[in-house]
Amino acid sequence: MISRRDFLSRIASASAATTFGLAGSEAFAADAWHAGYHSAAKQNPWLLAYRSPEREHFQAEVPVEGQWPKSLNGVLYRNGPAQHDVGDFRYRHWFDGDGLVQRFEVKDGRLFHVGRMVQTAKRTREQNLGRAALPAFGSTPPDGVGVTKADDLNPANISMLWHHQRLLALWEAGSPHEISAEDLTTVGVHSFSSETAGLPFSAHPRVEPDGTLWNFGYASGSGRIVLWHLDPDGRVEKLKALPVGPTSMPHDFIVTGRYVVLLLAPLHRESDRSTDRGFLGLHQWHPDLPTRVLVIDKNRFEVVRELELPAQWIFHFGNGFDDGNGVIRFDAARHANPDVMFNTLSDVMRGRWTPSEHARWYEYTLDLNKGRATETLALDSSLGVEFPTVNGSEIGIPHQRVVMLSGDASRESRPGDLSQVSCWNRATGKLGIYRYPDDHMAEEHLLVSDPSAEVGQGGWIVGTALDCARQATCLSVFAADRLADGPLAQATLPYALPLGLHGTFVPKTTNG
Ligand SMILES: [Fe+2]
Repeated sequence: MISRRDFLSRIASASAATTFGLAGSEAFAADAWHAGYHSAAKQNPWLLAYRSPEREHFQAEVPVEGQWPKSLNGVLYRNGPAQHDVGDFRYRHWFDGDGLVQRFEVKDGRLFHVGRMVQTAKRTREQNLGRAALPAFGSTPPDGVGVTKADDLNPANISMLWHHQRLLALWEAGSPHEISAEDLTTVGVHSFSSETAGLPFSAHPRVEPDGTLWNFGYASGSGRIVLWHLDPDGRVEKLKALPVGPTSMPHDFIVTGRYVVLLLAPLHRESDRSTDRGFLGLHQWHPDLPTRVLVIDKNRFEVVRELELPAQWIFHFGNGFDDGNGVIRFDAARHANPDVMFNTLSDVMRGRWTPSEHARWYEYTLDLNKGRATETLALDSSLGVEFPTVNGSEIGIPHQRVVMLSGDASRESRPGDLSQVSCWNRATGKLGIYRYPDDHMAEEHLLVSDPSAEVGQGGWIVGTALDCARQATCLSVFAADRLADGPLAQATLPYALPLGLHGTFVPKTTNG
């Protein structure tokens, strides 16, 4: 008889030892990827976006140009893969490098910035060895060392979460890392309870306005998805390891008033053998198979309906809500396939640009009564999109606006082609767009509400961009409803930071 604790523990270890392909590794006499990137980077300014940081710790104080809104007080925290080279080994995928967490705070007309590498067990082990030795999402360094659990591989490099007065750096196949909210030093691996230590916790939890947190985590080696329900104080209210059949790698999900919705794309793990492409290399895309839509009752964590959509690849959803009568609506950046993950975001690491088709903005309806899932292109097909975000106060209920990066999908894809910030107002049908100068590469922008404005109106958009010409990262703030007017204020750091992934804005009132 296996106890519940033993069972969960097996899931925690399964997602490492059997998932990441640890049986062996290929020898690399000379790392052509390392040489390829560093040679190409001398010719192509945009490759600055994928350069490893030159140090562990960044700190700067710079003036803000323009008028930073007086009532916008808080801290923007960001995270992203950064340590793309370890010794002479260069990772094969943008998602692999150790996480660099950042803190941006504007006070009295000045931007105070801190950046610091997350000191994970993985990073410490490789620093002690003096080389890359642990398999990653899309890479398998030579002469790998043994691991026993997912957190042995955890680079803490995808997103940030502020919850129950803790700042957490998230990965998706293992535990969060707690980070000091002030100086960004690493406190350590965070467990929500002893029973759940090491379980996969995705980088896109959904937090309802009262602080209730929902999340999932895929434990590929076990064929299960772990579902999490935490209370506002970070206590585990409910947890379930749901058997899901063919394993995919969902990155984000939807929570509505009644349901948790998971889309399982036909990207199936079909191998346990080690490959030089890490975890990603164990997977096969099946364009002729449907995307499975699991509709899960929030209270019981049981699948109440399984529907189908055409094969598609979604990194990120906007938001979802239901009408209380069995109709669920949500929106997402829909890729036709995972080519961008397999090709574009891998080849940039060796200094090559391999275009892939952009994602488009889609709206979905799940009718549980009729057993039907439908999808509709919601914005012009010439608009490529990614990194959608909504206001945190609208999670699980009908949302007014979605902020996302966008670009002209009708022309040939090029590096930095998502250099527009867009604000799509679902209620009015208005699409506001600001386009950064051509030598900028935009990063995720967040919608921050103005407490004095009506819900769904006003507020600001805050985000960062890499100015490849000046070799500097900048922070900008926009009026959300006047995005096209350009930044209200902007501050430019005296250094360039690697292009990151996700962040969170913590209003000062809750940051202490
Ligand atoms: Fe993401």
